[in-house]
Amino acid sequence: MPLPDSFLQELVNRNPIEDVASSYVRTKQRGRTSVGLCPFHGEKTPSFTLYPETNSFYCFGCGAGGDVITFIKKIENLSYIDAVRFLSDRVGIKMPDDKTDDTVSKLRMRILEANRDAARFFNQTLYSPEGRVGLEYYYSRGYTDQTIRRFGLGYAPDSYYTLVNEMHKLGYKDEELVAAFLTYRSKKSPDKVYDIFRNRVIIPIINVHGNVIAFGGRVLDDSKPKYLNTSDTLVYKKTNGLFALNFAKSSKDNSLILCEGYMDVIALHQAGFTNAVAALGTSFTEEHARLAARYANEAILVFDSDAAGQKGTRRAIALLRQTGMHIRIVNIPGGKDPDDFIKLYGADRFKLLLDRSSNDIEYQLIELARLHPLDTADGRVSYLREASILLSRLSSPIERDVYAGRLSAELSVSKDAILEQVERYKKSDIRKYKKMELSQAVRSSEDMVKKINPQAGSNIRASHAEEGLLGLLILHPDYITAVSERLPPDTMITDFNRKLYEYLLKRHEQGLIIELVFLSAEYDADEMAYISRMVQKAREGIHSPEQAVEYVNVIHNEHKLLGLNDPEQLSDDKIKEMLDAMRAQKK
Ligand code: UTP
Ligand code: MN
Repeated sequence: MPLPDSFLQELVNRNPIEDVASSYVRTKQRGRTSVGLCPFHGEKTPSFTLYPETNSFYCFGCGAGGDVITFIKKIENLSYIDAVRFLSDRVGIKMPDDKTDDTVSKLRMRILEANRDAARFFNQTLYSPEGRVGLEYYYSRGYTDQTIRRFGLGYAPDSYYTLVNEMHKLGYKDEELVAAFLTYRSKKSPDKVYDIFRNRVIIPIINVHGNVIAFGGRVLDDSKPKYLNTSDTLVYKKTNGLFALNFAKSSKDNSLILCEGYMDVIALHQAGFTNAVAALGTSFTEEHARLAARYANEAILVFDSDAAGQKGTRRAIALLRQTGMHIRIVNIPGGKDPDDFIKLYGADRFKLLLDRSSNDIEYQLIELARLHPLDTADGRVSYLREASILLSRLSSPIERDVYAGRLSAELSVSKDAILEQVERYKKSDIRKYKKMELSQAVRSSEDMVKKINPQAGSNIRASHAEEGLLGLLILHPDYITAVSERLPPDTMITDFNRKLYEYLLKRHEQGLIIELVFLSAEYDADEMAYISRMVQKAREGIHSPEQAVEYVNVIHNEHKLLGLNDPEQLSDDKIKEMLDAMRAQKK
């Protein structure tokens, strides 16, 4: 049972794309549209565009596009029906009773409920005699009761059954608990389930919507593994969650402190640095970088000072650079992590470290200087070359000037000479960069075409006209009557386009509104992207009845060329009739 149009219409009216997208992307107004960095692919120059008029989005870089429901599907990784539910909840309207198969969304809800109940249980246990060891552990690390409450910290008892029994009492079924990664099935007797988290202090992971989506559990002693984390479930994907982002997102700093561990984050928040977050149980990924970029302009990296931490820092720098975030790096002296440092020296000293932190250019210059023998002429030349390339990537001329000045003093080379070299690299860099972004865009849209409309490749003229026409019809449904009378669906050559055309005709015949949002019930995110591309082309091209007729003509001709069943040829009279009909409609 599809959702009623009236409901969908209200849903999109109450959820303007600009409002919805603003929680994920920062955009700037540009004419009637707004643009920002695409949340679906890494880019430095904004090509993600919002169209308030059609309540839709389109990215010129990766080709992602569609209506507001498709946007939520993609960005929250939800099914169609869950995305609709998400948007309904967002504005507090009730979903009509739908009969769609929602087994997966029901299970997803049950997992979230189970997680919340489990978190409550772990927290209550912490304050019971059984949890005393856990509480002592937190106290020994210097965490206050207030911090424990704020983060909802807990303790999992040293037992295989306590949580399972508790959850059974609350009505949870075994398969729900297994799907939530709270219990596992015994291999020997698969009808029995056991607690996964045992004798560990428990840290719930809460997403920006306030849902408990996963847990981390730390042992109380030195046994292994030190941390046990929830594996990926229906509600959790570890490559795109940041611990404590639920708190950090509302920090006013416009910066995020990125560190390595749960305990670092908690210690930082307790010390007043409420913009600290961490990637959990995995190394920093491109998805983490994009997530971070949605909430702040600046990333301050405070990784451990061991070899693994330094490697992680370099990796994170490379990924964060892609998002255009400003980056600073804090080096913690003495091989410590932030948690140790704050415990030893206090919050004020940590604040000093933050204030003195270098930006990533400084960090990379130091690294470069280490790699090149500066006591030889060759070494200095190659250092200078690499350093100039680095400076050429800085977008601020002031910053370039400052670092060129430093290099000049350091190497006794004139500042002007350095700046000149930087300028040369800058030019070639911009060219290379533009070329790269473009070729990526071309590649991804070619892949998309092949997947969605495999016949387009061998019917270039026909598919071009079909798509031009379909885009135009979506923007100008008032053309549909006239076009449909002259272009029977069978005349369309590629299957995907024919089906879309038939769908538009059907809605039109039934007197239903044509808008992207109604298509998203039928088409998945990639198909919506493909359709959005048609609309985009139409937007950029000529919107006129003549253009529509031109497309209809081309389709008829191509059809004939292919020797397909005798198509209805358009006589001059017919064409005139058609134009008149469309022009009349427009008024
Ligand atoms: P660390 O070993 O640096 O731990 O791992 P830590 O945060 O300093 O913890 P404490 O202070 O010893 O308690 C950093 C992060 O790597 C992940 C965890 O997310 C941890 O916070 N990790 C580490 C695991 O997922 N599993 C492990 O066994 C170890
Ligand atoms: Mn630590």
